[in-house]
Amino acid sequence: MFREVVLGLGGNPVVEGMVKRYGMQLGAARFVAGSTLPEAIERIREINGRGVMVTLDHLGESVRSEAEAMDAKNSYLAMLDGIHQSGVNANVSLKLTMMGLALNEDLAQRNLDEIVTRAEETGNFVRIDMEDSPYTDVTLRLYDEAYQAHPGHVGVVLQAYLYRTMDDLRRLSNPPRNFRIVKGAYMEPVSVAFPSKADVDENYLQLVQESLKLGNYTAIGTHDEQLIGRILKFLHEENIERDRFEFQMLYGVKFSLLESLAREGYRTRVYVPYGEDWYAYYVRRIAERPANLLFFARALVDR
Ligand code: FDA
Repeated sequence: MFREVVLGLGGNPVVEGMVKRYGMQLGAARFVAGSTLPEAIERIREINGRGVMVTLDHLGESVRSEAEAMDAKNSYLAMLDGIHQSGVNANVSLKLTMMGLALNEDLAQRNLDEIVTRAEETGNFVRIDMEDSPYTDVTLRLYDEAYQAHPGHVGVVLQAYLYRTMDDLRRLSNPPRNFRIVKGAYMEPVSVAFPSKADVDENYLQLVQESLKLGNYTAIGTHDEQLIGRILKFLHEENIERDRFEFQMLYGVKFSLLESLAREGYRTRVYVPYGEDWYAYYVRRIAERPANLLFFARALVDR
């Protein structure tokens, strides 16, 4: 219920205006690693120094013009170049709506291809984030085309709250690929997504297990300690080698847990967003955890 209300309010222009005005002071900074690429690279260096890799995200989604989509593409080319030149240990995560998907599929496909080509040239990797369900089919299609052209340099996200995901995973796993599995962060109708958290959690576990059994490199994107415990048990029982998976968490959430997994010798990566366009990202982080709203409200009262 909390989640629906917050995600719903996120689309309200009055709330958006207020949060955009004060949001950085009111808590968004906790989830965002600066506004410029040099700031983000500095942050990556510190995180790498603690034994954790990074996936870098330039905030923004659903651009309104072709020119904005080109700017977004150029920002990702600059990120890949910046990562290459600075020598930090990071790949990139992007959203296809930022590449123009809502305007024109060909535009997004061309932008994606240019970015994945640059990733291949610089020995790097592009993760395509998964957005809300109207985009699932087209995202998987454009991912698959990019994968056929640049295998080894592109992967996609699969969401455990969608009923369809186990079928997608099996269909796309031949030959084995690279997936990030998450629970799913958008407001979805019961016609497409499990409404109950227990069902999402159970499907999450099944998907991670199946992905590893199918031979995929699997990025386990969750902060759920109970689930992580069950997954560690499975990894141990099945003797899964540590170079076949990694744990991923969001910047600002449970970093000490990720660090402790890194100290135990597991591959770990933190999702680091940077840039000015943080509003929609921040609203999803609040919706995930009621306490984040209290944190936000307290900051508002303390002003
Ligand atoms: P759950 O929501 O059950 O949380 C478990 C515990 O983690 C909570 O009890 C709380 O302690 C802590 N926690 C979780 N979220 C928190 C927050 N925002 N602030 C503070 N504490 C929090 N989604 C999507 O739809 N498409 C995508 O491409 C991605 N990409 C992505 C990358 C990575 C690296 C991660 C970790 C997550 C995503 N997500 C995503 C988001 C994902 O779908 C999901 O919304 C969040 O990870 C929260 O779900 P958990 O698995 O953490 O479990």
